[in-house]
Amino acid sequence: MRKKIIAGNWKMHLNKAEAIELVESVLVGSKDLDLDENKIVVFSPSFVYLDTIVSKIASLSNVFVAAQNCSEYEQGAYTGEVAAKMLQNVGVQFVIVGHSERRQYFNETNIVLHQKMKQAFVHKLQPIFCCGEPLEIRENQEHFLFIQQQLENCLFLLSEEELLQTVIAYEPIWAIGTGKTATPEQAQEVHHFIRKCIAENYNATIADQISILYGGSVNAQNAAQLFSQADIDGGLVGGASLKAQDFRTIILSI
Ligand code: 13P
Repeated sequence: MRKKIIAGNWKMHLNKAEAIELVESVLVGSKDLDLDENKIVVFSPSFVYLDTIVSKIASLSNVFVAAQNCSEYEQGAYTGEVAAKMLQNVGVQFVIVGHSERRQYFNETNIVLHQKMKQAFVHKLQPIFCCGEPLEIRENQEHFLFIQQQLENCLFLLSEEELLQTVIAYEPIWAIGTGKTATPEQAQEVHHFIRKCIAENYNATIADQISILYGGSVNAQNAAQLFSQADIDGGLVGGASLKAQDFRTIILSI
């Protein structure tokens, strides 16, 4: 059975005290959040707070920590990089790979992203693989082809076992941080398409087991409608994950 996942990508925000307070406020009375092994929450802080946030959630089940990136290399003279092995070593369970901000501002190509995913698997991290089209591609109605190529040039190079460990996040770039959410129908259409591509490249059973999250201006008001769609298994939430009450509402919307 595929899991329902609400992940908060904090990007380059918050200081240490704020990060701790946010986790505490989201998880206060965490029983009310109704989490179980098939409905989980993931926090994705900056590298420097990973250790702290891992300790904070250590006693809780069904709450996990993701890094926002990892190196494509195992180890070595790569100043400023963080290896998947180091993330595993501090107790991180997930790593975001291929966020559009990494692709766009740090020139991460599908080949590099594939290497990062390989590193994640070697060190027992589950990648959250992001895909999604820019505005002009959407306006030209070329988004299906664009996403298919992102999948084929990176994700579909994985083995079945690796793919089954992967979470996919569809994040249309025009919806990220813009307040312009994809409609539930627009998002569902792409999620369904992604699942169809997986079924064609692997098989329908595998396609049915993969969690596909939506990201792009998810908020406390629109989350329930998005999550009610058949192929939307949760959200990768940016701005709204920084506000405890809103993030709680989003978790409760699934
Ligand atoms: P926003 O929710 O702020 O649009 O960000 C989405 C995102 O990029 C999550 O990874």
